[in-house]
Amino acid sequence: MSENDRFYITTPIYYVNDVPHIGHAYTTVAADILARYWRLRGREVFFLTGLDEHGQKVQQAAAKAGIDPQTHCDKLAPQFENLWKKLNIANDAFIRTTDTQHKQVVQQYLQELFDKQLIYKADYSGWYCTFDERFWTEKDVADGLCPDCKRSVEKLSEHNYFFKMGQYQDRLIDHIKTHDRFIRPESRRNEVLGFLQTQKLSDLSISRPKSRLSWGIELPFDTNYVTYVWFDALVNYVSALEYLPREKSAGHDFWPANVHLVGKDILTTHAVYWSTMLMALNLPLPETIFAHGWWTVDGEKMSKSRGNVVDPNKMVETYGVDAFRYFLLREVPFGQDGDFSQAAMVTSINSDLANGIGNLLSRTLTMIERFADGKIPASGPPALPELEEKIAQAATQLPTTLEQGFSTLTFRDNLQAIGELVSLCDEYIDKAAPWKLAKNPEDALKLKTVLNHSARALRLLAVSLYPFMPQTMEQLTRQLGYHVDFSKALPASAYQWDSPVAELTIAKGAPLFPRIEGLSGTVRIKGELETKLIKGAKPVSDTPITPQPVPVITATTPPATSASAETPAAAPPPPASPQITIDEFMKVQLRTAKILSAERVPKSEKLIKLQVSLGTEQRQIVAGIGKKYEPDVLVGKTIVIVANLKPAKLMGIESQGMVLAAGDTDVRGLLTTHEEVDPGTKVK
Ligand code: MSP
Repeated sequence: MSENDRFYITTPIYYVNDVPHIGHAYTTVAADILARYWRLRGREVFFLTGLDEHGQKVQQAAAKAGIDPQTHCDKLAPQFENLWKKLNIANDAFIRTTDTQHKQVVQQYLQELFDKQLIYKADYSGWYCTFDERFWTEKDVADGLCPDCKRSVEKLSEHNYFFKMGQYQDRLIDHIKTHDRFIRPESRRNEVLGFLQTQKLSDLSISRPKSRLSWGIELPFDTNYVTYVWFDALVNYVSALEYLPREKSAGHDFWPANVHLVGKDILTTHAVYWSTMLMALNLPLPETIFAHGWWTVDGEKMSKSRGNVVDPNKMVETYGVDAFRYFLLREVPFGQDGDFSQAAMVTSINSDLANGIGNLLSRTLTMIERFADGKIPASGPPALPELEEKIAQAATQLPTTLEQGFSTLTFRDNLQAIGELVSLCDEYIDKAAPWKLAKNPEDALKLKTVLNHSARALRLLAVSLYPFMPQTMEQLTRQLGYHVDFSKALPASAYQWDSPVAELTIAKGAPLFPRIEGLSGTVRIKGELETKLIKGAKPVSDTPITPQPVPVITATTPPATSASAETPAAAPPPPASPQITIDEFMKVQLRTAKILSAERVPKSEKLIKLQVSLGTEQRQIVAGIGKKYEPDVLVGKTIVIVANLKPAKLMGIESQGMVLAAGDTDVRGLLTTHEEVDPGTKVK
């Protein structure tokens, strides 16, 4: 196996104690996309993820639960394993730091460093944060609080073992400077370099006395100590290769890793601790450590105490696995921070997926059924030479763009390039108007060209999108009659625009992505707030080709799963109303508001723009109440609004809240108060 033929990618190993959230899902989905892409391109891929199971927090949680730590870990591990199945993660191995073989490798490395006198024992005194399991210096904790988690720290003095990390400072600086791809993105590389060039790198305490922490890997040279959890955890990237690859003998060939994907908060441990550990062990350094950004949720930091932790399981159940995977990588350039909101996800699903690739497939297959007896015809003479040339250029360029994007981890650029090809094809069908060509026998050959070009583009789009949305792209290729085995490397022809598709017999099935509908500007309270539909669908087509009716689902109803997607979609059952806790309800701030003015939004029969007073402030709200009310009758009314909803744009107009109204799809009555109360009064 030559170096370029293999691809070793890792995610961080997640703390077993954590409840899996969108941050965990983000890294793992990104790694899966890379792994799937390089497998298709013929590289031998090893994709590793797993769990970090030692440390004080696990020990404490197990004690609280009255069970031994290993039982505690065994109980918790499946919540990650099950999530990965649900997210369609095709990892090659799953490591747990409590695996016997992993523990042996950690001990072997510790012994090796100890024998080389790269580990020594010394007194240590500092401020210890139990939550973060680390020491801080005097200047870090000026206010008696941990600078990281803001919890109180305690003064501890103890003997510990230290790894001579400091002596590798210059070598590490040199490595970063001479290896452009080592720390990515560029801004993070500069941060690490800046820190290394201005501060003295100290040695690293790699032990914890058993008197304080017993749940860890025992030091091979002193049974009174266990290993510091980071030294244990980082070794997983190498120890896994000893016992987890299918062919164990091939394991070592995967080192050094091509990509360690990590979040920005754990870049230092990877770039500095891990790199110097590898130097000390005489092992080569990974090719790239890529630090991605963090998700906030509706503009706020995600945290248990805020109760806004996004559960990926719920997202998959509500929106479907592929829509969620797509959104994570499409919304934010990889490497930057991003904000998660369900409203943004609905917009992206409707515009890019339901109206984009989903609709392109639907209209293309409808035309092939109608005008070519369900068989993709061979191309004839040009129908619209200029657009055909543009499509050919974009399609020919796409594989190179993809390879570049997957090499630099610019996932979003790839999705953008794919989206541009979808738009070009839509424009092509609109302008070529096959339904008109079909009426004129002289245009019969041109009609074939249009059908052929559209089908060919879809074939290439399916191959390009497969790593992002594997399940749906398998459906797409099945519907197109294109039999491709995505579990193996694809032949080069799969990425070539010229590859023929003529003669394939299509098998039109259910739409790939159901559109998600919600009420605009109003909200129905039925257990959960309903997701607003912000951006309207672009008209599917103003042509006689009626695309297959797209089932409309509400954001609280799971779309058809892949298993059922090939069968005609039955009307989804009415969604059950999940119960919410009082705490969840209290997060919604309801207030009274007095309507100061009201006017219709041009070109909308439903939307009315309101200026309302909340006593101390004035707001603009766009509400979908125009079918029920004339603007004039609204002025002066005191209504109830959701006051803490993130502002959103409806038909390009900012709405800073949501009006409450009774009714289901149709508004039947606005909520007002029985007695006149001051605007801005809290509603409970
Ligand atoms: N166990 C260590 C990693 C050891 S790797 C040898 C750890 N685990 S963790 O479970 O706390 O975090 C795992 C990852 O989740 C980190 O990469 C972190 O950046 C990521 N995220 C945690 N919250 C996040 C967001 N809100 N957004 C994106 N990623 C986030 O650290």
